[in-house]
Amino acid sequence: MTQPMKTSWSPAELYRQLDQGSRFGILDVRNKEEFAAWKIEGKTPIQTVNLPYFDLLDLEGDDEDLGAAFARALPKRLQGRLPRDAPILAVCAKGDTSPHVADGLRRIGYQAYDLAGGMAAWGNHYETHVVEDTGRLTLLQISRPARGCLSYLLASGGEALVVDPSRHIEVYGRIAAERRWRITRVLDSHLQADHLSGGVALARELGATYWLHPYDSIYPDEQLPATFAFHYLEDDTTFTLGEVAVRILHQPGHTLGMVNLLLDGRFLLTGDTLFINSIGRPDLGGRAEAWAGLLYRSLQRLLALPDDTVVLPAHFSHMLEANEQGCYRARLGDLRSHNEGLRMLAEGPAAFDAYILGSLPAHPPSYDEIRRVNTGLLQVDEAKASELELGRNLCALSHGGNGQRLAA
Ligand SMILES: [Fe+2]
Repeated sequence: MTQPMKTSWSPAELYRQLDQGSRFGILDVRNKEEFAAWKIEGKTPIQTVNLPYFDLLDLEGDDEDLGAAFARALPKRLQGRLPRDAPILAVCAKGDTSPHVADGLRRIGYQAYDLAGGMAAWGNHYETHVVEDTGRLTLLQISRPARGCLSYLLASGGEALVVDPSRHIEVYGRIAAERRWRITRVLDSHLQADHLSGGVALARELGATYWLHPYDSIYPDEQLPATFAFHYLEDDTTFTLGEVAVRILHQPGHTLGMVNLLLDGRFLLTGDTLFINSIGRPDLGGRAEAWAGLLYRSLQRLLALPDDTVVLPAHFSHMLEANEQGCYRARLGDLRSHNEGLRMLAEGPAAFDAYILGSLPAHPPSYDEIRRVNTGLLQVDEAKASELELGRNLCALSHGGNGQRLAA
């Protein structure tokens, strides 16, 4: 029996192609605003054409086949802007239009696929990478490639801790169940502004404790307290998970209640304080000048740690920041010279402040609403949650730019 021809890429397949640096083109049929706000990015530039769906659809009659209609409209609109000798991925918002577009492309001779579930599914796709896996300690990095968000699962002695979980809490429950871990603690490194936290919901569902620094339990604009109960994270305190010590470092700057975690004295979860190529932006609370000074001191504190400390951030800006295995990690010693923010730190507080204030990205309007949800002050349904989370995170100071690879 012959296999039916594969005509779709799943988000996992797209990730695999991006990770391998495969050559392919993209025909994105979302509207121009959606396309401008967020597109698929990989390690190498992707030949991408945006032709909004409605501009392509000129049916000759109500009963005309959509694939045939696209095949008729595409040659004139494409004008040879997509490669003939590489696969083409047709992309739409939710995956309902792109199969017809891919069909149209195949009819005119392209090797075309559609992205199953569209950008919505791509935005909600997760990958897991092992940071460390010994008998005593397992540390997993769970990435959300389309958004650049990273969360972590640490396990030891059958007990597990989740740090910065996304709202898709089933991802963590599934991994823990497969490995027979019991998640006993859930923690947010700070009040997230770029994505909806799954922290409170995950802890509730599993009967685990939820931890946060008290300063980040307050919605900053109106100083309103969070509506949920939580355990206080305190500076320079240590708890034990199985056989592993977890030390909490209060590291204000990106937010007032930002914490970093030093696991087993070696693995440093830096939250949004320090990324591979950049540092956290201190302006999201509306106090950039005052908080830049806090960030300066917090980063200096990190730099006092040994060079072999493994930095594990909460975000990445570019896939090239990952190592060969796809894991976002770096030796602190390497970041001292490679990370632009850390290099500016060495110039002293005045130069650092000037650098910060001169490189602040725009404040996305959705961030205020996301923080409102994350303090429990606002409930949203799935449609609204997806809308709020559209696009790549903007938590880093200097966003985008060239990725660079650093081993750790
Ligand atoms: Fe953040």
